[in-house]
Amino acid sequence: MKHRKTHRSLISLADLSPEELKEVIELAIELKEARETSDKLAGKSVALLFEKPSTRTRVSFEVAVYELGGHPLYLGFNELQLGRGEPLCDTARVLSRYVHCIVARVNSHDSLIQLDRYSTVPVINALSDLEHPCQAIADLMTIRELKGKWDGVKVAWVGDGNNVCNSLVLGCAMLGTDVVVATPPNYEPNKDIIKLAKSFTGKVEVVHDPHEAVRNADVVYTDVWVSMGQEDERERRMKVFKDFQLNEQLLEKAREDCVVMHCLPAHRGEEITDSVIEGEKSVVFEQAENRLHTQKALLIMLMGEIL
Ligand code: CP
Ligand code: NVA
Repeated sequence: MKHRKTHRSLISLADLSPEELKEVIELAIELKEARETSDKLAGKSVALLFEKPSTRTRVSFEVAVYELGGHPLYLGFNELQLGRGEPLCDTARVLSRYVHCIVARVNSHDSLIQLDRYSTVPVINALSDLEHPCQAIADLMTIRELKGKWDGVKVAWVGDGNNVCNSLVLGCAMLGTDVVVATPPNYEPNKDIIKLAKSFTGKVEVVHDPHEAVRNADVVYTDVWVSMGQEDERERRMKVFKDFQLNEQLLEKAREDCVVMHCLPAHRGEEITDSVIEGEKSVVFEQAENRLHTQKALLIMLMGEIL
C-alpha cells in the first residue's frame, strides 16, 4: 500500500482558504441533511492520537470515520511507545505506513508541527494549546444555520483568549464575520493569530471590557477559564476572570435574538451560569452535534486526494 508524499493537513484553521472553509461547511450541511452511511473512506484507516482527554472530538471523529465506511483507531499517547519516550518523528513515520490520516490532540502545538513534518498522510489538529480548528468549523456552521449568513454577524468572545478563541477569531475573520474579544489584560488571543485574522475581511477587535464586547452581539461565546494543562494556574485564573462570567446581566447587553455558544465541556458557575447555558438562547448542543458533520466533511476534503 503506497501513500502519496504530498498531503494536505489542517494544523491551523488558516491552512484552509476562506473558499475551502465555506466548501467544508456547505458539504457538512449536506451531510447533516442526509445523515447516511457511505463508503467514501472504505478501506481507509484513521489514527486518533490523543494526549489529553476528549468526549466530543474523539467520539465525533470515531463515528464520522465509521459512517464514511473507514476504520478509526483511538490511540492514547500512553498506550503507545510514545508514552515511553519513542520520538514523535518516528511515530509519525510508522503511523503513516499504516493509516491514511492522523487526527491528533496534543499539549504543545509544536508536536503537531513535528507530526506533520514527518507524516506522509494528512494530519488534523484535534486541539493544541494554540488552536482548535475543528471546533471553529463546527461553530461557523452553527452560526450559518442559525443566523443564515456570516457577513454582518457580530460575535463576542468573553473570557480567556485561548485555543478555541484563536481558531474562532481566524474563522470569523475568514468568512467576513465581525468578532470582538474581551479578555483580562495578558490573556488576549495569540498576537500572530490576531495579525493574520486582521488580513481577512471580518473586523477583529480585542478589548478588556466584556460589556463593550457583548453590546449588540448576535453570538456570545465563552469557554473555560482553566484549559486542560493549566490546572496549576487555577487559583490565580479564578480571580483574574471573575468579572468575565457569561451571566444574565451580561447577556442583556447583547441583541435580543442572540445565541449563546460554548465549545463544552463547561464549568457552570465559573465562565457561564447554569441559567444561561440551560437558557433558551443556548445552542451548545447544536454546536456539539455539528462536530460530527464537519468532521466528516473535513475528512472527505483532506483525504480526497489519496482516495
Ligand atoms: N469541544 C471539544 O473539543 O470537546 P472535547 O474536549 O470533549 O473533545
Ligand atoms: N480551552 C479548552 C477547550 C476544550 C475543548 C481546553 O483546551 O481545555
